[in-house]
Amino acid sequence: MEIKKICVLGAGIMGAGIAQTAAQAGFEVTIRDMEDRFVENGITGIRSNLARAVSKGKMDQVAAEGVMDRITGTTDLVMAAQDADLVIEAIIEIMDIKKQVYQELDNICKKETLFASNTSGLSITEMASVTKRPEKVIGMHFFNPVPVMRLVELIRGFATSDDTLNIAKDFVEKIKKTAIEVKEAPGFAVNRILCPMINEAIFVLAEGIATAEDIDNGMTLGANHPIGPLALADMVGLDTILLVLEGFHRELGEDKYRPAPLLRKMVRAGYLGRKSGKGFYDHTK
Ligand code: 3HC
Repeated sequence: MEIKKICVLGAGIMGAGIAQTAAQAGFEVTIRDMEDRFVENGITGIRSNLARAVSKGKMDQVAAEGVMDRITGTTDLVMAAQDADLVIEAIIEIMDIKKQVYQELDNICKKETLFASNTSGLSITEMASVTKRPEKVIGMHFFNPVPVMRLVELIRGFATSDDTLNIAKDFVEKIKKTAIEVKEAPGFAVNRILCPMINEAIFVLAEGIATAEDIDNGMTLGANHPIGPLALADMVGLDTILLVLEGFHRELGEDKYRPAPLLRKMVRAGYLGRKSGKGFYDHTK
């Protein structure tokens, strides 16, 4: 099957990045979120990313306009999904909400349509189980910021077919990213390694061992990471990091995955990182 039309569910940081990347590769993309303001936020973010690329001379104005012309925003799930060949779901990391959306999608979409979840680590098998097409459901995990990061983890659920995997690999190639194949497990491969590191950095901060700036300088200068773990947490979103760690703790049952109490406290306080303006750093200035 040839993928032409893409539906992206969720216009948050990841959904908008995925929509931009797919549109830049020439795909028609409809991006859907629950409320107009979320859709508008996502589209505004894409527009400013493209404007930055144009101002840096990395893209010309006509190409940027072409990308925007290929992106439609809506709150209407039926309109967004009914013609799609591939639905990429990038909604909140709560299994019950995802399952409800997959059930609705299964009724709305053509029978050939593939469903790909951008989950950071939840079970693809469980999402697929509520559809009548589990062989057409796959994990397609992107990294933030999506337009820049070259990796996509592809995760097979229990019933994912070879055909689905091959179509997904082909799509990843077309959007100029590199796929790695990962078995289904909490956090897959990358987040299983990355999120405990971020959690440990939060413990180091909370124990007063070093300041946020020094922890981040330590990891950029001492381990050659592009940004430090606390700056990365602010970029990904502290709420997302917490949900991922809670999932590890629940599923793998080991204390080493216990979310740092400071992380929990900051999420409760609304300190979610860049998206709320404050996290380990102040992003309002
Ligand atoms: N969207 C689009 N492009 C962006 C961007 C964004 N949000 N942020 C930065 N960029 C682009 C810039 O325009 C610039 O492009 P150019 O080279 O063509 O001019 C390029 O990225 C570099 O940006 P900057 O010079 O402003 O800043 P940096 O050199 O610090 O690079 C970075 C930014 C690429 C984000 C770098 O800091 C980095 O690699 N950080 C680590 C990212 C990472 O680890 N991501 C994985 C997170 S985990 C995850 O996503 C999984 C999830 O499930 C939790």
